[in-house]
Amino acid sequence: MEIYLSNMKNMSRDNQLAKLRNVIAIDGPAGAGKSTVAREVAHRMQYVYLDTGAMYRALTVRALQEPVDLTEEAALAQLAARTDIELRPGTYEDSRVRVFVDQKEVTDQLRTPEVNEAVSYVAQSPAVRHHMKVQQRQLASAGWVVAEGRDIASHVLPEAGCKIFLTASLEERARRRWEELRAAGYQVHKETVQENLRQRDRIDSERKVAPLVRVPDAYMIDSSCLTIEQVVEMVVEYCKRGGLSAIRPG
Ligand code: CDP
Repeated sequence: MEIYLSNMKNMSRDNQLAKLRNVIAIDGPAGAGKSTVAREVAHRMQYVYLDTGAMYRALTVRALQEPVDLTEEAALAQLAARTDIELRPGTYEDSRVRVFVDQKEVTDQLRTPEVNEAVSYVAQSPAVRHHMKVQQRQLASAGWVVAEGRDIASHVLPEAGCKIFLTASLEERARRRWEELRAAGYQVHKETVQENLRQRDRIDSERKVAPLVRVPDAYMIDSSCLTIEQVVEMVVEYCKRGGLSAIRPG
């Protein structure tokens, strides 16, 4: 089903598609480096960075606060309907994405081990996903966006002019996530982190609605042995070859 957005009603279909072509979609499993790469590509190309995982994480923060039974579809659907999530996308001057749930900032609570554990259960809900998709299309509707997630190229923005599937080995992804958590002051075992990633990969890839997949026209990059800089170069080069303007006009 196609979704027409209220702020796009007066735009011709060709105009809509032209805007959405100026979107870079980066999908892949946790810890592949999507956030860092997406943020840097957005900075280099002067696009807006859209972190869709942050939206699922924000709703998870709320679900854990209430608390809501994460296996109850009806409860999650209700929660999604009554929770206001505001994402203030980073700009090319300040790439930090700030996230608000019902007007309260939750940016610092998004990446705790508790949220890491719970988020994929929340993201399985069809109602939650529908809700997110509508908002994400709205945010991307102006074009010149680097959107990063699991289902961007396959479901949310299939019109994107540049599609990347970024992955890395499970061991390397776990090592990076463990370093990140340690740097943030969390004491966790590397094995626990690896197990959480394995579990999330499984839930994200096997869920019924919008699972993590590589679409056939996505350019696949395995970042296991590459630096962030190398991956960023590859993505920017690929986008240019695909005809995306390197710099957002005006
Ligand atoms: O940063 P990391 O890759 O660990 O995760 P994230 O991108 O913040 O996403 C957290 C979780 O949200 C994922 O494991 C998915 O369960 C869910 N998610 C999703 O289902 N679809 C998206 N477009 C983005 C995230």
